[in-house]
Amino acid sequence: MRYESIAIHGGKSEDSGKDAVNYPIYLSSTFAQPSLDQFQEFAYSRGSNPTRSNVEKLAADLEGAKYGLALASGMAATSLVFGLLKQGDKVLINNNVYGGTWRYVSNIFADHGIEYEVVNDFNHYNFNDADSNVKMIFIETPSNPLLEITDIRKVSKEARKRNIVTVVDNTFLTSYFQKPLDLGADIVVYSATKYYAGHSDILAGLVLLNDDEHFTKLKFLQNTYGGILSPIDSFLLTRGIKTLSLRLAKHQKNALLVAQYFEKHPAVKDVYYPGLKSHKNHDIQRSQATGDGGVLSIRLNDGWDSKKFIANLKIFDLAVSLGGVESLICHPASMTHESYALELQEKIGIDSKLLRLAIGVEHEEDILEDISNALVKAKI
Ligand SMILES: Cc1ncc(COP(=O)(O)O)c(C=O)c1O
Repeated sequence: MRYESIAIHGGKSEDSGKDAVNYPIYLSSTFAQPSLDQFQEFAYSRGSNPTRSNVEKLAADLEGAKYGLALASGMAATSLVFGLLKQGDKVLINNNVYGGTWRYVSNIFADHGIEYEVVNDFNHYNFNDADSNVKMIFIETPSNPLLEITDIRKVSKEARKRNIVTVVDNTFLTSYFQKPLDLGADIVVYSATKYYAGHSDILAGLVLLNDDEHFTKLKFLQNTYGGILSPIDSFLLTRGIKTLSLRLAKHQKNALLVAQYFEKHPAVKDVYYPGLKSHKNHDIQRSQATGDGGVLSIRLNDGWDSKKFIANLKIFDLAVSLGGVESLICHPASMTHESYALELQEKIGIDSKLLRLAIGVEHEEDILEDISNALVKAKI
């Protein structure tokens, strides 16, 4: 089956035996054991629950992965994967990642004796310079919020030669547009809160991988840490996934139109969207992804006021998050990436002028009109 069909028919095949078209919600914390010496697949829902197993298999089917794990949020998924690290290990990470990931790296690693190094551009990184205790590379591509692109094939190949695990946060594209495992990465993490769930109603996280040993450890950690996705949220995530391809195609169509509009508008100084030919890594993006998603960032020129621009938008809510059907705008420096020290924000470009837009699936003319009107009112 192809992607769109797997999204609808993938997951676990057996259900309660009642032939429900939708996989049922098993609201049960515990499952009866037939006898003292007979153990079954489901015993206690922190370990596994049928509705969660269904969405875990569905996400794995879509990714072309052997294993999937569903967690209570994207950060629970990232934290789970960081649980593979031991004292003395080192992590290389790209310089703009989601603020929560940065909060973890910059606050928690040191307490556990784990080192990290921020890499400004993995595409030009000399892996021979990497310390021998580097055990993991963590990349977001496209990155949040600067939409920078990392060559997953190149990084994974160099990492593999050195026994380093490559982890890709693929939240901005999903497996519909990019499959990091096929490009050589070891583990993929998602904030499934975003495009997978798609309706800004639940928080969810996913971890997808092929390696048996890593899976055994991560499954153990999932049961031990306990940050699992509930049965109801597992159902809602499954429901969201059924329309993922339809939504993403529209998000991307709208985002490209908006990016092209911004590119030509005198009010706009910078536009970051990997689907634009002018994007510095457009070629790498084309070589590894079949689409570019619905998120873009901009800076307005002097003479236009960002605050007025935001205040005059009617369709866009000022809110963190992305990947829901509605258009949102946010100010990364104060709303999603406030965990970066001011100095670091300025250095890497998450400055006070940067605005991130998550383009929804509304009619493209309404989105463009809204932006156009707000820009007129933003003129100082
Ligand atoms: C790229 C990326 N990764 C991870 C996360 C964390 O996900 P969650 O909010 O579901 O914990 C986010 C949230 O915005 C994100 O944008």
